[in-house]
Amino acid sequence: MTASPNNGVDPAPNPHATAEEVEAALKDTKLAQVLYHDWEAETYDEKWSISYDERCIDYARGRFDAVVGTDQALPYERALELGCGTGFFLLNLMQGGVAKTGSVTDLSPGMVKVALRNAEGLGLPVDGRVADAERIPYDDDTFDLVVGHAVLHHIPDVEQSLREVIRVLKPGGRFVFAGEPTTVGDFYARWLSRATWYATTNITKLGPLRGWRRPQAELDESSRAAALEAVVDIHTFDPADLEKMARSAGAVQVHAASEEFTAAMLGWPVRTFEAAVPEGKLGWNWGKFAFGGWKALSWVDENVMKRFVPKGFFYNAMITGVKPEPKEA
Ligand SMILES: C[S@@+](CC[C@H](N)C(=O)[O-])C[C@H]1O[C@@H](n2cnc3c(N)ncnc32)[C@H](O)[C@@H]1O
Repeated sequence: MTASPNNGVDPAPNPHATAEEVEAALKDTKLAQVLYHDWEAETYDEKWSISYDERCIDYARGRFDAVVGTDQALPYERALELGCGTGFFLLNLMQGGVAKTGSVTDLSPGMVKVALRNAEGLGLPVDGRVADAERIPYDDDTFDLVVGHAVLHHIPDVEQSLREVIRVLKPGGRFVFAGEPTTVGDFYARWLSRATWYATTNITKLGPLRGWRRPQAELDESSRAAALEAVVDIHTFDPADLEKMARSAGAVQVHAASEEFTAAMLGWPVRTFEAAVPEGKLGWNWGKFAFGGWKALSWVDENVMKRFVPKGFFYNAMITGVKPEPKEA
């Protein structure tokens, strides 16, 4: 029962933006979202090491449990994802037993196309639409669960989007957003990434390390993408402010959490280094080191750092809340 994206109504992907479109996008954040993410869609899973196996199912389910807790009755009947990208969060949550059926939405037609293809490959009952999270094209009281991962920081009016989430949720329905950058986390992640990019792309100019240098054309393309990235990344969050915003949008039982402190300090340089060297250079042992290191440091963050490092210093913020029943409103 996998459906195609609202054929005939949704716009087609545009993975090859013209120079004029890119110029216009520098002043129009929503156009930038579409161009940047349409351009990324077909290679996004590879770039971010996204998979639909146990590794990412555990990761997605882990984020859900970390903010919602483990005492919920699962699965939810019908779930919606905003800013689905290639479907990483909802498809893995469905595989992890969180929801039975799903609808994936994104501003980028290219992303919706890939998310639906991934869902079809996994045999999951998912339909999809191109949609702006500030104006969700579904009726009131439609979904039992609304989720999003790494999307709120791209939306100009986050509170408007949360009001829309509350509108399309059934009374008693829940939303969960994860993977949002905190203000402090974003600061150290950006500086660590910049330093790693600078060091790698310069050291690999030296004779014996030339084999580790990516072709200049590819490095230039990454720099152009980085310019658009600065236009699409609009917000960083303080977990306490996110809670206030969710309450003001009409949610109850609101709770924010955060995670990854030392793990983010390893994770961002590692991802940047992977992007700065030629594809295929880093073998299986590197992958093992990167994932093992991230897991070990995540354990340290959860069991040691959380005791004395403030919530706002961790990199990833998460927020959950519930649409009130009529008597609670
Ligand atoms: C960083 S990606 C995350 C994708 C996916 N959720 C993941 O975690 O892999 C952000 C996604 O949000 C989408 N997006 C940006 N602004 C949006 C908006 N206003 N409404 C809906 N989607 C939006 C982008 O097109 C992109 O696919």
